[in-house]
Amino acid sequence: MDYRHAAATDALKTDCRVLPLPEGEAASAALAELPESVRTPVEQARKRGDFSGKLGSTLLLIPTDGGDLAARLLLVGTGKDALNDKALKKVLGAVFSGLKLTAAADAVLDLRHLPGAHSARQLAERVVRLGEEALYRMDRCKGEAAQAKIIPATLAKLTLSGAPEDAAAIEQGIAQGCATAAGITLAKDLSNLPGNICTPTYLASVAQQLAAELPIVTRILEQSDMEALGMGALLSVAKGSRQPPKFIIMEYRNGPEGAKPVVLVGKGLTFDAGGISIKPSAKMDEMKFDMCGGATVFGAMKAAALLKLPINLVALIPSSENLPDGAANKPGDIVTSMAGITIEVLNTDAEGRLILCDALTYAEKFHDPEVCIDFATLTGACVVALGHPASGLFSNDDMLADSLLKAGTDTADRAWRLPMWEEYDDQLFSDFADIPNIATRGAGEAGAIIGAVFLQRFAKNMRWAHMDIAASSWVGKRATGRPVALVTQFLVDQAAK
Ligand code: BES
Ligand code: MN
Ligand code: ZN
Repeated sequence: MDYRHAAATDALKTDCRVLPLPEGEAASAALAELPESVRTPVEQARKRGDFSGKLGSTLLLIPTDGGDLAARLLLVGTGKDALNDKALKKVLGAVFSGLKLTAAADAVLDLRHLPGAHSARQLAERVVRLGEEALYRMDRCKGEAAQAKIIPATLAKLTLSGAPEDAAAIEQGIAQGCATAAGITLAKDLSNLPGNICTPTYLASVAQQLAAELPIVTRILEQSDMEALGMGALLSVAKGSRQPPKFIIMEYRNGPEGAKPVVLVGKGLTFDAGGISIKPSAKMDEMKFDMCGGATVFGAMKAAALLKLPINLVALIPSSENLPDGAANKPGDIVTSMAGITIEVLNTDAEGRLILCDALTYAEKFHDPEVCIDFATLTGACVVALGHPASGLFSNDDMLADSLLKAGTDTADRAWRLPMWEEYDDQLFSDFADIPNIATRGAGEAGAIIGAVFLQRFAKNMRWAHMDIAASSWVGKRATGRPVALVTQFLVDQAAK
């Protein structure tokens, strides 16, 4: 859909004027500013009791008088209080489901009717992002008959206005919202695809495709390249699969020459059956989502490139399946990582850290990161600890952690920091190797933190953060595209530094 900014929308001829209105007497002030042709039908509806202004309520009006200015009026209740993130989401959800019920091809909305602490830039970004969210469908895998029945959305254009002094901020917000939404859509599409279609080879082809569309350079490391680099941890996971592993590298260099890059690492495990330590079959289908970290990195790369951010960015996506097989890792196997650290694989289902540790070493060795951030559906324990509202955040650098938390607050794509105290690291003791891949002391406790401190062993020489997105990246059976909005905001902030 097309999102535009206009200095004023009240005199614009439109298919549908969206009019957010508060509950109770506060509505009178908002109504007083409106042209009479709009005000009169709204006042009538309020008098008749058809519209209370309750948060998220809607009413569609067809003005007969002055209808040449707005063919439809969509009233949306904003409730009694200033809009927080949750209420704003509810209001915008109501706006887009209300619009969906009409045949309007274009609509207008004045952001000043969304009262709260959000800046004009934030509001514009949020409207665009949630608008695209509302339009999102994943029906590539439906059959022809079902596809034929899909009614395409009629809404093609939404025009936003606001205070004159906010014009630039609104334009920025729209641009960021569009780029973020494109990144989220890509991340969701990749994540929602089943494991038999979205294989490491498929992800590699998507990286090639991005390079064809945008100023991104893609390089794929094959199994033999990984062998030459000594990526023994990553390769040990891939051994159990008939799909060849891929190590996907995408570079977007638009910053000052020689400026150190931000390196984004994403777990691209296209299906995680657990390996020999096989998972229970209930909900195992959801392990197609075990590449959501990689999908996040794809989405963030796309958003950064669309925004033409003046930064240097490197994406690293180690990609493999994790399956039981005669050649698969066995509990007790000892593998040598690229860093030379030997790892005792006590549980083959803790495979994410095995593919990520070699990617972290690769980042450190070949890309000298300004900061390195990895994204991974790493632990079920993170789902238990934080549930869906927040991604788990870990970092060896307080400034980096704070920037990521702030970007999450800014975009309502929240994260919450968890500790990595030495006591946790002490839980990683191996009788035979340098480190086990699961806790051997206090086993079963603080699982998300154990995953993080394992990775930290491979990120000693860089400013690094780890985001465990096991809960935030999909809910039920649907990918959320999180935390692409957080990462995009972080990169925008980074570029403005
Ligand atoms: N991909 C899973 C983590 C996961 C599980 C995410 C369920 C979301 C929902 C990961 O590879 C895994 O299996 N982790 C194990 C680690 C354990 C063996 C230490 C887990 O969480 O059970
Ligand atoms: Mn696993
Ligand atoms: Zn996994």
